[in-house]
Formats: sequence, structure tokens, C-alpha cells
Amino acid sequence: MKEELRAIVGDRGLVETAHEREPYEVDWRGQYHGKAAIIVRPATTDEVSRVVQVLSEARIAIVPQGGNTSMCGGATPDGSGTQVIVNLSRMNKVRAVDPNNNTMTVEAGCVLAELQRVANDAGRLFPLSLGAEGSCEIGGNLSTNAGGTGVLRYGNTRELVLGLEVVLPDGRVWEGLRGLRKDNTGYDLKHLFVGAEGTLGIITAAVLKLFPKPRAMATAMAAVDGPAQAVALLGKLRETCGDRITAFEFLPRICVDLVLTHIRGSRDPLPARHPAYVLVELSDNAEIAVANATLEEALGGAVEAGLVRDAALAASEAQRLALWGLRENISEAQKLDGVSIKHDVSVPVSRVPELYERAGKALAEKYPDIRIVAFGHVGDGNIHYNCSKSERQAAEDFFRQGADVNHIVYDVVHALGGSISAEHGLGQLKRDEIKRYKDPLELELMRNIKKTLDPHGIMNPGKVL
Ligand code: FAD
Ligand code: MLT
Ligand code: ZN
Repeated sequence: MKEELRAIVGDRGLVETAHEREPYEVDWRGQYHGKAAIIVRPATTDEVSRVVQVLSEARIAIVPQGGNTSMCGGATPDGSGTQVIVNLSRMNKVRAVDPNNNTMTVEAGCVLAELQRVANDAGRLFPLSLGAEGSCEIGGNLSTNAGGTGVLRYGNTRELVLGLEVVLPDGRVWEGLRGLRKDNTGYDLKHLFVGAEGTLGIITAAVLKLFPKPRAMATAMAAVDGPAQAVALLGKLRETCGDRITAFEFLPRICVDLVLTHIRGSRDPLPARHPAYVLVELSDNAEIAVANATLEEALGGAVEAGLVRDAALAASEAQRLALWGLRENISEAQKLDGVSIKHDVSVPVSRVPELYERAGKALAEKYPDIRIVAFGHVGDGNIHYNCSKSERQAAEDFFRQGADVNHIVYDVVHALGGSISAEHGLGQLKRDEIKRYKDPLELELMRNIKKTLDPHGIMNPGKVL
């Protein structure tokens, strides 16, 4: 089999030594260690198509992989040594940029940060933004329907795509690279592949939406008492500034402490300690001085209303990046601090305070030592309700509680009408858990779609369903 694949992709398209293979076989969190039969890196759609055809005929399971930053083991093979990783990173060409149509057509292996740069160079904005943007790839973003910090204004990745090119599980290529904003010619197939986590086919290219580039971005860190004040502040800021509020991220003090401890060069945003913070960004077409004044005035109003305790406005690009660093380094800092149990959940924005209150109380009653590190995209109702182990506890003991801790948090989320996976997907982490919370009819419909597109079950088995 390997030689058949070599004939398609050449020596450069195979990862062979044990040392080189390792990063492909383990996930970002180090929670899943798989073993692949072969790791193949095709460089064109035609190569992907021929690779998939060969594997499909032999009924060999395929694990699509992009930047391998999945938070739920979605891109890691199982331990059987029978699955083949198809890594898309060599498919990294920008095929076209069309500023008048406000689109760019790009290959799946383009790194997200690079696409932000391409859009910027064309005088446009590609608004998808997340902590892993220096290494995650657009094929992975599409396949997980990634969220991130721009969702409040621009939506999830699903809302940023107009067309797709996909290699189907039998190797045929669906050419759906249309750059149309209106196209009502039946079922919108691209949305089946967005968020499918590689279980229905391999995305090889996409037409992405571009947006006008804001002239200025005003950024501030506002100290608040807790989630209730954060939600109230969001309402107030949107009343006064409307859609110009483009990011609104919540950080309890424990997150700032973790970043200060583990990430070199980070600084406390305000002179005093506060229970929690909100990172707010306002994007404007006015000059930066005007944008700053608008945000300052809005936050001043919130101070008077008793919602904000203190605030720091970034006075330079370096200060703006430093404030974002406090937010974007939380995952890395939490990882450096030790093992954690992650809950990427969402509830209606209005119910975020209840989530904190009810889950916090239920966990404290049963696991008083657990450290709750719950932060994130409060403007989207998406909280990373993560739990870190206490210093005294051994990692094995902590993980032994995992299933129970999950149920405590997820039961609250479910009762609040929420979702147990807001933006990271199910992967292998939540594949079983989802059966407890999702409507059986929805799961049945999902299985039927899977059977229709992938009758032999070779696309990323063991994930999602
Ligand atoms: P991978 O991890 O390689 O794959 C993810 C899934 O997509 C797998 O199921 C894989 O099989 C499938 N896949 C990958 N490429 C393809 C393809 N071309 N065709 C079909 N299937 C494919 N996520 C968010 O949503 N918001 C965040 O704010 C966020 N922050 C993060 C911060 C950090 C520090 C890290 C490490 C991760 C974060 N994530 C976040 C999770 C992760 O970055 C995203 O899920 C990202 O979209 C995954 O992209 P990737 O290229 O790394 O995909
Ligand atoms: C983030 O928003 O930083 C990540 O999605 C969160 C996580 O690490 O759980
Ligand atoms: Zn997130």
C-alpha cells in the first residue's frame, strides 16, 4: 500500500521516520497517542483524489489532518496502526483573490494567520481569529466550524464560506468552488462538510468571504465583578456602539494569574487585582483617536453605572497585542500549569451567569479542591468551562473523576438549553457523551447522512458518531 501511495505523492509526500511521525500521531493536548499505518501528505487535489481512491478500494480508514490543533482528538488516529493520516499541509496555495467580489479562493492547508495576511494585503479583512491561528489550517477550521474571537460580529467559519472543493470518500471530486452570495439551487451541500470533522470527505479548497478592513481598532481591558456584570456590560456597549463591538472576551482572575505565571513578558493589565476582566474591542472606520474616545466614553458610562471597576485602554499597537496576549495565551498557560478537564460549552448569552453559578456550586460541593478556569467568548454564550487539578492531587486521581465532573457541568448546560460542544467539535473526546444530550432523532439523521456519503465508514471512524 505504501508504495502505491508513494507512486502518487512521491517521497516528499510520505512521513516515514519515527521521529518525524510523532507530531502527527499525538494531539495538541497530549491526551491521545495514536499509531498510523501510513502518513501521507498530498500536494494537489488530484493527488488527494487518487490517494483516497486507492484507500477506499482497500477499505482503509482515513484520518484527515490539518494543523493538528484539535482540542478533542479529532485529527489523531486510533492505536490500531491500521488508519492512514492524510495531512493537507502541503496544499497551501492561495488560488485567487477577488477584491471586487470580496472573496479569496484558497487551499485547505493554508495556515489561518497567512490567510489573514493575504486578505490584509488586498485591503480586506478575513475575520476568523483564534489562539491557534499561527498553526491551524483553513481546512481544519472549516471542518470544525471554528469559532474564535470574531464570532460576535462576523459569525462562525460556516458563515465565512461561499464554496468548497471536496474529495468524497470514494475519491471523486465535488467541485463546489462557487463565489456566489445567492444560490438557491437545492440543498446547500457545502454546509454538510463544514463542521463534519472529516467524517464525510476531505475539504481541499474553499471560497472565503472577505470584509472591509476597519480603519482603527480600539482595545481595552475592563475589570468587572463577574459574569453577570460582563453580560450586562455587553448589552450596554452594544446599545451605544452597535456592531462596532467586534470582540468581547471574559477572563476571571485565575486566567490572568495563569498567564502571568507561565507566559514570559506578560503584565497585569491594571494596577489593582480584580475578580474578573473583559477584553473589549471596537472596530471603526474613524481614526484611532476617535475609536479610542468612543470606547473610552462607553466604558466611562459603564463605570458610572457600576458595571466596570476600572479599565485600561491600549495606547499603542504593542499595548493592544499585550492585552490580547493575556487572552490568547490562556490555553497554553493552562497546559503548562498541568492537566485539565475541558468543557467547551455554550448557553444563551443571558444565561451565562447562571451557568457559572450553578456549575460552580455543584462542583464545589463534590470536588472542593478543583480549580475552575472558566473563560472565553461570553459574547457568543461560549464558555470554556475548564477545570484544572489542585496542586495536591495526582493526575490519575484527577482524571478518574473526569466522567463525573463532565456530567456535573454538562447537566447544568443541558438544563440551561445549551450545547456540550460550542466550537471545538466532538472528535473522540465527546463522541460517547453526545448520546446522553443530543436528540436521538438528530443522531439518527446524522448516521443516515454518514451512511449515504461514506457507505464503507472509512472517513475518520471513531470520531463524532
Ligand atoms: P486539525 O486539528 O488538524 O483537525 C481538526 C478536525 O478537522 C479533525 O477532525 C480532522 O480530521 C478534520 N480535518 C482537518 N483538515 C481537514 C480537511 N481538509 N478536510 C476534512 N477534514 C479535515 N477552536 C475554536 O473554534 N475557537 C478557538 O478560539 C480556539 N482556540 C484554540 C486555541 C489553541 C491554543 C488551540 C491549540 C486550539 C484552539 N481551537 C479553537 C481548536 C482548533 O484550533 C480548531 O479546532 C481549528 O479549527 C483546528 O484546525 P486544524 O487545522 O488544526 O485542524
Ligand atoms: C480558546 O478560546 O482560547 C480555546 O478555544 C479554549 C480552550 O483551550 O479550551
Ligand atoms: Zn475558544
